[in-house]
Amino acid sequence: MTNKYIYFIANWKMFGELGSLNTLHKVTKFFKNFKNKKFTKIIYCPPSTLIRPMSKKLKDSGIDVGGQNCHENENPGPFTGFINCKMLKSVGAKYVIIGHSENRKTGENNKLINLKIKSALKSGLKIIFCIGETLQEKRKKITKRILNNQIKSGLNKIKDKKNILIAYEPIWSIGSGLIPKSNELLDTINFIKSNNKNYKVLYGGSVSTKNILQLRLIDNIDGFLIGGASQDSKKFIDIIKKSYN
Ligand code: PGA
Repeated sequence: MTNKYIYFIANWKMFGELGSLNTLHKVTKFFKNFKNKKFTKIIYCPPSTLIRPMSKKLKDSGIDVGGQNCHENENPGPFTGFINCKMLKSVGAKYVIIGHSENRKTGENNKLINLKIKSALKSGLKIIFCIGETLQEKRKKITKRILNNQIKSGLNKIKDKKNILIAYEPIWSIGSGLIPKSNELLDTINFIKSNNKNYKVLYGGSVSTKNILQLRLIDNIDGFLIGGASQDSKKFIDIIKKSYN
């Protein structure tokens, strides 16, 4: 396995409370002495309520924290229930997930996602930009068209893309235990990178201790966005360890 820089991003979704932070010391301890530390980036994206306490716990550990979504408006305003990127940043976030399919499902379209990405960039956050096709679209063999459209519209009029990580998450794979066939994944990631060879492209969807070895053999993947398996510190550490076997 080549010593390539790999991201491991924990997406806790709407899981976790203050007590869930108690096991983080296992991760910081593991990472402190990890022999592949300099090739590894770990980022935790907990619910907004935990960003501040988590940033404190992870201080000086080399592990970063991010938000899971943001409002597109970078200024304060009458938007009940929302938070913007400046607010995320002020409590310790360095990253923000934008365009996750669970949010697209509730009505976020490519245009809104584009505004959110622009606002995050202005606030100085790095972005984990999620794209992915539904099972129906996959069956219709229009995955590439869908991804292309999501990338083109989501990144419309954004010149500097160095702070944007793309997370390819097939919607049918999220939480289902299913992952794409290796040759399909290789091909899709190559397709995404054909838009811009500097893109860092992560894979997300049912990443686990069981499939990480298979996934790591796909050598154009720059990292993983991990939902379910990231909430358990032990499993998360195992995934990272196995990645370098
Ligand atoms: P999963 O979620 O690993 O539980 O499939 C991934 C995601 O939704 O980001």
